[in-house]
Parts: sequence; structure tokens; C-alpha cells
Amino acid sequence: MRTQVGIIGGGPSGLLLSQLLHLKGIDNVVLEKHSRDYVLGRIRAGVLEQGFADLMREAECGVRMEAEGELHGGFYIAHGGGKSRIDLQGLTGSSVVVYGQTELTRDLYEAREKMGGKVVHGAVDVQPNDMTGAPFLTYTLNGEAQRLECDFIIGADGFHGVSRKAIPADEITEFERVYPFGWLGVLTETKPVSPELIYAKHPRGFALCSMRSQSLSRYYIQVPLSDTVEDWPDDAFWVELKNRLPAEVAKSLITGPSIEKSIAPLRSYVAEPMRYGKMFLAGDAAHIVPPTGARGLNSAASDIYYLYHALLDYYQKGEDAGLENYSDKALARVWKGQRFSWWMTGLLHDFPDQSGFDKRLQQTELDYLLSSESALRSLAENYVGLPF
Ligand code: APR
Ligand code: PHB
Repeated sequence: MRTQVGIIGGGPSGLLLSQLLHLKGIDNVVLEKHSRDYVLGRIRAGVLEQGFADLMREAECGVRMEAEGELHGGFYIAHGGGKSRIDLQGLTGSSVVVYGQTELTRDLYEAREKMGGKVVHGAVDVQPNDMTGAPFLTYTLNGEAQRLECDFIIGADGFHGVSRKAIPADEITEFERVYPFGWLGVLTETKPVSPELIYAKHPRGFALCSMRSQSLSRYYIQVPLSDTVEDWPDDAFWVELKNRLPAEVAKSLITGPSIEKSIAPLRSYVAEPMRYGKMFLAGDAAHIVPPTGARGLNSAASDIYYLYHALLDYYQKGEDAGLENYSDKALARVWKGQRFSWWMTGLLHDFPDQSGFDKRLQQTELDYLLSSESALRSLAENYVGLPF
């Protein structure tokens, strides 16, 4: 088989690029290890910046997002028993869209299917080959060896994928920070406690009240890395969550059985450059952020934006400057997302090794933020997404 662009990974990054390219007549194939149900079973992020929403519309995948997604013009930071609203709309003129990654991925799959896009599920042992020469992908499907020749390979196979690992060690540099805690997340079929997200800083640890819709809530609490899901039966989770929320919020929290519960460790990670020969990395394959600033999925979307335009320039105008500059351009924005996620994580979490001095500074950072319109605007412009 031969295609123009061979994409490893059928998560949001790979599917969005596939859809955008197909609409412009650029042939591509997506190789996904798992089944569609498996990919859609993962509960992930839920806050989209406007640039991402625009890209979904450009991909002709925006209809359900527009109908069912919620426009949020602000969120709350809870602290010291009360809460302060961050007026995103007032500070930046922009809002975010609350729409689950699961739904977005479903929309992308449906669009790919409708257009006759080539998405191969159950592609195992995918391997990128001859990345600096005439690239091709090898994989196994239903026990049979396959070969797919292409002009370019896109590594959109997430943090645990093969593409980044296929780059020789001396051609890539990794930057990493691992945090000494994780987030325990619970999904429930209940009405969210607040119409807008609440990020709570509390001496017992961070908590977040989020949602997927007006009947599906997503809550998180910061937990030590040594904790397991078995340590947290539903009742214990609700008690601890309420402990960390302002009393008036805790009072109105509607609890219910969890339909999903998982612990995600917090990590910051970047691999540079995001290119090796004719293979380009995008999304979680190249970078991970702690979830505090809601940047993960959005950073993936900005990679796809740059890569899509670079590939268009190549195929439509014969220009390869976009591809040459892709890694630098994408990384400049990736690092801004890293900085913001690191800052917001540091602002709101309880760190086990914090000194008294560190705690005072952390509290002062929050006091300053909430008292300064300039500081608030800086938070808001990062949260709604810096320009591409
Ligand atoms: N071969 C083929 N497919 C693979 C391989 C492999 N060796 N390894 C992983 N995959 C697939 C995974 O099954 C998954 O469906 O690649 C896909 C990668 O998807 P994601 O991990 O969702 O990564 P990405 O598409 O970059 O999405 C951006 O941003 O906020 C984060 O975690 C959030 O997933 C989200 C990500
Ligand atoms: C979520 O709803 O899962 C979510 C929302 C905002 C974040 C992180 C996660 O910052």
C-alpha cells in the first residue's frame, strides 16, 4: 500500500489531522492499535480553547460540539473558605468550550467513516522505518504482515507510543518533571455542583469540580502517588471532596455512584525536536502537561494546526519551509503551555516537601493574582489559549 501521509495513532491528534488533510484531497491512513470502543472508553480532558473549536469546525466536525458543548465565560478558584470568579470573557473577550474528549473523538471517527477515511483498527507492532530516506510503516493486521509506504510519517500515538521511541537516542532530548502526587478522578451521572468549573486550593490538597454536561459531572482530588483506586470507595471520595470545598459548595454537592474512577499521576514532559527526518511528532507523543491548566488536549490541537498548514504548503505550493519550521514553531507554543500548567499546578496543590516559606509564597502568589487585573489577565489569556 502507498499513501501520502501515514499517521500512527487514532486519538484526537491523529484523527483531526487525518480529517483536515482528507478534506484538502491529501491521502492518508491512520494506524490505530486498539478498537474504536477502547479508544472511546478512555475518560480524558474536557475543556477546549476557541482555536481548537475553530479547527473542529474547519474539519467539518463542529455540529454536535456547537449543539451540546457549553460555552464557559469564566471559572472559579476556591480558597480560604470562599471562591473568586475568573472572568475569562471580560478579561480576554474569549471563552472556552466544555466538551468531552470522548465526544470529540467520537465526532472525528464518525466524520472519518462518512468520508470513507482509512482508519485501520487493531494494527499491532506498528513500526516506522527509513525515516531519513524513503519512509514506510510496517505493522501486523489479523496476523498478516503489512507495509505502507508514505511521503511522511506522523507520530500521533500518545505518550506510550512507538514513534518517539523509534528516534535514535542521540537525536532527541527529553525534559521532565514528575510531581509527587496524582489526581483521583470520578465521573458520575449527577448534575454538576456549579455551572462553571471550580479549582479548589485547600490545606488537605487540591480539588476540581468539572463536568461533561448538565447531567454528567467530573470531580478530582489530589492524592499521594502511593494511593490506589481501591483505597477510595465512593463514600470516602465524596467526604474528602466536600472537605476541600467551601461549605456553601459542599452543601449543594449532589453525589452518586461513580461510573468511572481512575488515578492519573501528574507529569510535565517535552521531547525535542518534534521531528526526525520525515517523521513528525504531535500531541501526547511529544509532550505531557499536568492537567491543572487544561492544556493537554489543546497543546495537541496546536501541533495539528501547525502540521496541517505545513503539509498544505508542501502539497499545494511545493514549499517545505513549514515542515522545516514545524518543530520550532510547535515547541514555542508547547513550552508556553508547559509554563502555564506548571505555574497553575504550583499555585493550587499541596506539596509534601513545602517549607513554611514556600507556603507563604504560594499564598501570596494567589493573593496577588486575585488583587491584580494584570495578573488575572495573564492567567485568563493562557487559559483561553494563546494565539496559534
Ligand atoms: N500503534 C498504533 N497506535 C498506537 C500505538 C502504536 N504503537 N501506541 C498508541 N497508539 C494509539 C493509542 O491507542 C491512542 O488511541 O495512539 C492514540 C494516541 O492517542 P492519545 O493518547 O489520546 O494522544 P493524542 O491523540 O495526542 O491526544 C492528545 O491530550 O490532554 C491530552 O490525554 C489527552 O489524549 C489526550 C491528548
Ligand atoms: C476535566 O473536566 O476533566 C478537566 C477540566 C479542567 C482541567 C482538567 C480536567 O483543568
